[in-house]
Amino acid sequence: MLRNKKIILGVCGGIAAYKAIELLRLLTKAGAEVHVIMTSAAQEFVAPLTFQTLSSNPVHTELFNLIAEREIGHISLADRADLFIVAPATANVIGKIAAGIADDMLTTTVMATKAPVLLAPAMNVNMFTNPIYQENEQKLRRLGYLFEAPVCGSLACGWEGEGKLAAPEAIFESAVMALTEKDLAGQTIMITAGPTREEIDPVRYISNHSSGKMGYALARAARRRGAQVHLVSGPTALAKPDGVTVVNVTSAVEMKNEVMAHVAECDVVIKAAAVADYRPLVRNSVKIKKKADSVTIELVKNPDILAELGGIDHGLKKQPFLVGFAAETDALAENAAKKLHEKKLDMIVANDISQPDAGFNVDTNRAMLLFKDGSSCRCELMSKEQLAGTILDHIVVRLTER
Ligand code: PMT
Repeated sequence: MLRNKKIILGVCGGIAAYKAIELLRLLTKAGAEVHVIMTSAAQEFVAPLTFQTLSSNPVHTELFNLIAEREIGHISLADRADLFIVAPATANVIGKIAAGIADDMLTTTVMATKAPVLLAPAMNVNMFTNPIYQENEQKLRRLGYLFEAPVCGSLACGWEGEGKLAAPEAIFESAVMALTEKDLAGQTIMITAGPTREEIDPVRYISNHSSGKMGYALARAARRRGAQVHLVSGPTALAKPDGVTVVNVTSAVEMKNEVMAHVAECDVVIKAAAVADYRPLVRNSVKIKKKADSVTIELVKNPDILAELGGIDHGLKKQPFLVGFAAETDALAENAAKKLHEKKLDMIVANDISQPDAGFNVDTNRAMLLFKDGSSCRCELMSKEQLAGTILDHIVVRLTER
């Protein structure tokens, strides 16, 4: 996600400085090249060597470093950055930035950069609510500085309230948002994810192994690219993606009702959910008792939501760009192409679930993308996040060609 991105991570002096280590780990894992600047107060909390080891880059602590200053260290760092994150950002440093004071390596580099600056404040609740701090924050927001707001909780100083550094994952997400091109801005995308559950009685159901990971990865990626995302989710254990409208459903019929209620507002519909094809004809209102040696449950066909979407005549309104998924164990391309044409789709993502590292309930996927014009492309093994990005890249191209 952040490959080839150069990020400066400024660390100020506060007990939350140790959380910047986790943030650094997330940034480097996503492929970013990170250069850390620590204030002298920050070095009282965490040793520079920790950041140096994890970033594989020297940590900048002094404004007038004789070696770095041969190329004017703070200016060259500032020029090369795609994003500048300050986490934790203290009231002192935020105050200095707002006042245009540049008296150490961190504040001087912030002043010199043209890259977006993301500030993640952390401080005592009374400092946070102090009108002077609030005025500084408002001023910086007006000037285009980005903020990842602190959260409520028990603070290291013993107080309870707002001022706790946001979770490293939340700061990471804001960083990715800031660095992602908004090529889906203005588009409304509905994504279905996860399995459906078809109840037999109050304790039993028919379902499948879908974890929702693929659909949620698509929802996160589409939102980062500026789309308005409506996620219709079957039962999963996943956290709700930030900035996405999530509607939880259980059965295929509930999923169909939700999808049909919103399809008219959508430019794109992506059906990554693994919908049960059948449901019990009767749902027992009480638990079926274990008496007989065998039990027969009569199943009836569920509505095929995607096929119904493909069959809708939208009249004068433009048909949404329809993307289906196919989970196949054999004849991947043939089976997926059949579904593409039968369900009148624009595109289908065929998962090769014959391999343990692709398809259901894993973090990676291997897929083939097929389009209604007969073209196709193969995606070798990659993370579901990466595959989501590739699928959206293709959708962006096709949307602009429409
Ligand atoms: O959730 P994960 O663990 O990350 O796993 C991802 C996944 C394997 C579930 C996902 O990538 C996937 O392949 N989803 C579709 C699997 C599937 O059930 O395929 P299908 O061949 O049954 O259905 C084809 C398409 O029609 C799908 O887009 C499906 O959402 C849709 N469909 C199917 C049946 C039905 N009654 N209604 C539908 O809309």
